[in-house]
Amino acid sequence: MNIIQVQDYEEMSEQGAEFLFQEITSGRSKVIGLATGGTPVGLYKHLIDKLKTNEVLLADVHTVNLDEYIGLSDDHPNSYHQYMFQNLFQFIDIPSANRHLPSGTATDFSEECRRYERLIQQLGGVDTQLLGIGANGHIAFNEPGSPFDGRTRVVDLAAETIEANSRYFAEGETVPSQAVTMGIGTIMESRRIVMIASGKEKAAAVKEMLTGEVTENCPATVLQKHGDVTLIADAEALSEIDVKNIQ
Ligand code: F6R
Repeated sequence: MNIIQVQDYEEMSEQGAEFLFQEITSGRSKVIGLATGGTPVGLYKHLIDKLKTNEVLLADVHTVNLDEYIGLSDDHPNSYHQYMFQNLFQFIDIPSANRHLPSGTATDFSEECRRYERLIQQLGGVDTQLLGIGANGHIAFNEPGSPFDGRTRVVDLAAETIEANSRYFAEGETVPSQAVTMGIGTIMESRRIVMIASGKEKAAAVKEMLTGEVTENCPATVLQKHGDVTLIADAEALSEIDVKNIQ
């Protein structure tokens, strides 16, 4: 794994944006897998700036998000559809038909999961996938115990994930307990992966991912088996490992 060690959240965000910007403008990546959560917010700000400043045309770029909460409609303020609109899509001119997320309100979720897998295949697969990491080592919403060959499916969120995500919901509002997520098998088929991580609450998971046994108990460890992963992590997220001994 290629590790880019940066000082702090701001530098991680800038470097992460530059990574995606280079993928897009070089023409290497036409299908970009996107993540939500707190970590990529700064990256999206920098990416918007870079794309606008350089007047990059995005007509033939597609985005494919990792996940969506079950039960939240596309216009619910806490849905990942809204997150993507608020943090990225409203500022860049990627055609709306090219922005793909699983639906959180499908009438038939088995069919919705198959549709999402088919869509990724029809696009020719994901060229570059952006990932965050959960403090419990999850990637997308593949919680500990998720199969390494899993495809897009409905999952129950771990109690610690529901707790971590509750910070985005109003007091008294129910935090969804299920999501549709790309599977680990789906993610591993991405040609290139860039993971961003910031903060000491991620340090144990980052250490396990880089140095631990590859096991479904810590989903992110599967990335040790992917040939093209770049981790951009700040000093706090890397505080439990000696990077020199890993690279
Ligand atoms: C988001 C996602 C999750 C997050 C992870 C970290 O689409 O798939 O795996 O990347 O939960 O979330 P934050 O960045 O909020 O710490």
